[in-house]
Amino acid sequence: MSVVSIEREGEIAVVTVDNPPVNALGQALRQGLWDAVATLDADPDVRAVVLICAGRTFIAGADVREFGKPPVEPHLPDVVNRIEGAVKPWVAAIHGSALGGGFEVALGCRFRVALDGASVGLPEVGLGIVPGASGTVRTPRVAGAAAAVDLVTTGKPVKAAKAQAMGLVDAVLSGDLREGAIAFARAALEAPLPLPASERPVTDPAAAFWAEQQAAVAKRAKGEAAPLSALACVQKAVQAPFAEALAFERATFLDLRGSDQAAALRHVFFAERAAPRPAHLGEAKPLPLRNAGVIGGGTMGAGIAAALRDAGLPVVLIERDAEALARGLANLQTIFDGGVKRGKLTPEQAAARMAGVTGATDYAALADTDLVIEAVFEEIGVKRAVFADLARHCRADAVLATNTSYLDPRAIAEGLANPGRFIGLHFFSPANVMKLLEIVPTPETAPETLATGFALARALGKIPVQAGICEGFIGNRILKRYRAAAEALVRQGVAIAEVDAAMRGFGFAMGPFEAQDLGGLDIAFLQREGARAAGQDVPETLGDLLVRAGRKGQKTGGGWYDYAPGDRKPQASARVAEVLAAAITAGPALDHAAIAERLVGEMAAEGEAILAEGIALSPSDIDLVEIHGYGFPRWRGGPMHYTARKG
Ligand code: 3HC
Ligand code: NAI
Repeated sequence: MSVVSIEREGEIAVVTVDNPPVNALGQALRQGLWDAVATLDADPDVRAVVLICAGRTFIAGADVREFGKPPVEPHLPDVVNRIEGAVKPWVAAIHGSALGGGFEVALGCRFRVALDGASVGLPEVGLGIVPGASGTVRTPRVAGAAAAVDLVTTGKPVKAAKAQAMGLVDAVLSGDLREGAIAFARAALEAPLPLPASERPVTDPAAAFWAEQQAAVAKRAKGEAAPLSALACVQKAVQAPFAEALAFERATFLDLRGSDQAAALRHVFFAERAAPRPAHLGEAKPLPLRNAGVIGGGTMGAGIAAALRDAGLPVVLIERDAEALARGLANLQTIFDGGVKRGKLTPEQAAARMAGVTGATDYAALADTDLVIEAVFEEIGVKRAVFADLARHCRADAVLATNTSYLDPRAIAEGLANPGRFIGLHFFSPANVMKLLEIVPTPETAPETLATGFALARALGKIPVQAGICEGFIGNRILKRYRAAAEALVRQGVAIAEVDAAMRGFGFAMGPFEAQDLGGLDIAFLQREGARAAGQDVPETLGDLLVRAGRKGQKTGGGWYDYAPGDRKPQASARVAEVLAAAITAGPALDHAAIAERLVGEMAAEGEAILAEGIALSPSDIDLVEIHGYGFPRWRGGPMHYTARKG
């Protein structure tokens, strides 16, 4: 079947695009649109054309799968120009999302109408590129320079109503889009046609505007190339004739398309879409998820409960006594209040979130719960007692999950009558914000329990990654190696601040030592002490020396750095130099690039070990863990992609 079909409604032709799943602009679709213009221009009975899409969305962009290959004709900019140059005016009828090349096709149309709730945007920067088919050139001509800068440098789509206010679409419709668009086209033929986008005048803002935008975009981009290139394209578009700006945009697009950053971002794009539906789940069906229980209302329990409420699930929160329950509920309230302060929730929504939480100290409240997630103290005895209680009170088919970071889930599940319904679901702090969910089945976990873990991730909008059982699973195991490698650099004389600066330069928001000061050095210290007490041979770390000297991080006024009271700015510490002096021997100097290469190389090496042991199922899963759980810069693609591409 052809991806483009043409029907007639009297003097209006309807061009329907049907190229599942998202009507991406592969070669066949570009050719189909190209040919449709010729066919309809040649038809004397046609006076206007409605362009509409089948399926879940309008054209969602260029076909990203073609990006690694040489471009094939007809090229998209030519298709868009041809639609704009058609003798009969085209009306784009948008539902779902008109994104990237899809919105550029719409900009080539003389009119754009959108269904209420649809969105339009130019998200190319998210793929490390700029719009390549006039998005940066036509957008300022229909919506002004400031709106165009916003759209192309952030990549954020806008909803129909806002798009109309900005001038990006001409009308917002409700009801039947096809009928509405045909009626719009008929009415439009009664009036003089507006100028095509390429011929509309555009005003160049004052020089100060560009300087301001440059500073703001550079600050946000933190090393990403595409946003600044997109800004340069818009500036060119308002300062040069249309054809010259178009050529500049196309050259920038082609240049970026072959870049390391674009390859990395494409890798992440496809990895994220593959993660929720791993092939090995096969036919296993998830169990219904109508409600959930959370045991423990501390840092993680409250965050997990908030995430469940954000997804609309009623939650029972269990704590060990009334006082702890009050604290747990207060923790949840603080999270929702924060949502209101940041403008993410209305006060009414926050109240509704809270109203959907039932607090209890008695496990009887979990009698009809589909899924329970345990987030109590990281102690095997406490956790086992919790699961014994859960087994007594929950339905036999309820899924029982632990959020443990380091304990062996098999040991936690020991003695459960039905171990098939048990699973590890490892959230990251803050659990209502962080996108990563490590899913840790035991050898006894039933396929439908595993499938339920993945279904939960989808419901919560999280990225699921399956991990095997080892100390720290995927993420914390790599973190341990990363920190050890950072300490090794310090032992050979590299300054603590230089290590942190190097990793910030690489694209992390924080270096490894600043991050430990923020989170606290004592948690990992206590874990090592526990292992030592259990007879394991755990060598002394520099972090141990600091904790023994009373330096647990920002909360004690200092860790790897000193902090002035009330100030979070790390300052080099004479005391730290003193405490660590005996452990440090001067070695060769390393520049920032060499430091980052070393540390990322260590992460990738641990990743290789994890793959070899079957703890992770694919390199791209490891990349997702690092990007969504540990702040690895997305535009570097994750440690496995980065290291493989470097060869
Ligand atoms: N090219 C190729 N495949 C694409 C694609 C694209 N642009 N966009 C989505 N897909 C594929 C996905 O890989 C996925 O495939 P799978 O089922 O085999 O895993 C399938 O379509 C469905 O995608 P989602 O799971 O993301 O579907 P949703 O319904 O959740 O979301 C969407 C739909 C909002 C359209 C979302 O897919 C999306 O944001 N897509 C990317 C849009 C984009 O970035 N467009 C710009 C492309 S660059 C460009 O246009 C350059 C131009 O300026 C020249
Ligand atoms: P926390 O100390 O903040 O909270 C634990 C809560 O459990 C407390 O409110 C406590 O009152 C409650 N509790 C203890 N015993 C209980 C019982 N028998 N019944 C009901 N409630 C009980 O601890 P946090 O940080 O929330 O950690 C919880 C779990 O999550 C641990 O297993 C931890 O390893 C894991 N985790 C922690 C992360 C973090 O960044 N803090 C990240 C990922 C996992």
